[in-house]
Amino acid sequence: MESALTPEAALASLAWQIELGATEAIGDAPLNRYELPDRSAKPATPPAETAPIAPLAETDPVAEAEAAAGAATTLDALRETLAAYTHCELSRGARNLVFADGNPQARVMIIGEAPGREEDLEGRPFVGRAGQLLDRMLAAIGLDRRSDDPVCSVYITNVLPWRPPQNRDPQPDEIAMMRPFLARHVALVAPEVLILMGNISCEAGLGRRGITRLRGHWTEAHGTPALPMFHPAYILRNPASKREAWADLLSLRERLGDHP
Ligand code: URA
Repeated sequence: MESALTPEAALASLAWQIELGATEAIGDAPLNRYELPDRSAKPATPPAETAPIAPLAETDPVAEAEAAAGAATTLDALRETLAAYTHCELSRGARNLVFADGNPQARVMIIGEAPGREEDLEGRPFVGRAGQLLDRMLAAIGLDRRSDDPVCSVYITNVLPWRPPQNRDPQPDEIAMMRPFLARHVALVAPEVLILMGNISCEAGLGRRGITRLRGHWTEAHGTPALPMFHPAYILRNPASKREAWADLLSLRERLGDHP
């Protein structure tokens, strides 16, 4: 039988499985599939009368996320609640839950999109190339995620805490499930300002995309003053956008006042 997969898709799927830890592609013993029972065949006789099966209680992943997130009263509790949340398929393919990095006392909270390969391996947000650029951008206005001083530090998280396969875009249902956790995360950190890095962060915080038009304009997200900015990964791909990114950093600097 011919495979429906293109060679490129098959290769990408294999690479993904290897990344997930698969070490073998075939079993030790051959399997004669002609001898396996035909699962599609209908049973000849109806099964003996059994007790009626109670309908499964409908679960609403977003309502469950809201209840779970709302019950978390500390950041540690929120992290544990996220780890125990089973409705998001991404958690099964990820190596690590990527919760946050930086200083929870910081005046500035940055919200990115989702972990990539390096973040998934390390369990910390923004540690790959985009993260290194983000650190340089912040340093240019006197901010550093490693600082203990709330005035100079930042706190960083993502809309999704798990890496999407092959870094694909987060899906609307995944964003909807994670939004209550993100809103609670912001409420517990209670920063003075939020930076929404890129379209996914804008979708989760503002309910809309369009970063080219949104960037640079102060707005409100999760009940907090917020500045949408280009995502550092976008800036890496489009060096011409550095000018606007710099203008937005200066706007943040100005908003924070004299003290870096
Ligand atoms: N991009 C993001 O949005 N977040 C990360 O943590 C890394 C890359």
